[in-house]
Amino acid sequence: MAIRLGEASSISEGAMRVFDLEGTRVNIAHAGDAFYGFEDTCTHMGCSLAKGELDGTVVTCACHGSQFDVTSGAVLRGPAQRPVRSIPVTVADGELLAEAPSTVR
Ligand code: FES
Repeated sequence: MAIRLGEASSISEGAMRVFDLEGTRVNIAHAGDAFYGFEDTCTHMGCSLAKGELDGTVVTCACHGSQFDVTSGAVLRGPAQRPVRSIPVTVADGELLAEAPSTVR
């Protein structure tokens, strides 16, 4: 099931925005020509990744510097050990649609 998030143009290139989807904080990053969704909660100690920095497709947690690949959720640099969950995002007619977190493993 897809959840409508509003106009894709509301997130400028290089920016991130957090949405509450079914009680899960989902970060949508606009990197290059694409949008990527992932759980906003850092798997190290739970900081919001939206408070960190997005550089290309790499997000750096502001708390202790862990880095994640927003395209896959993979850890690129610790101290985090576990990936963040990716949430598939599509754009249709200029509108952002995210998969419901409850349907994404
Ligand atoms: S909480 Fe993100 S690196 Fe520690």
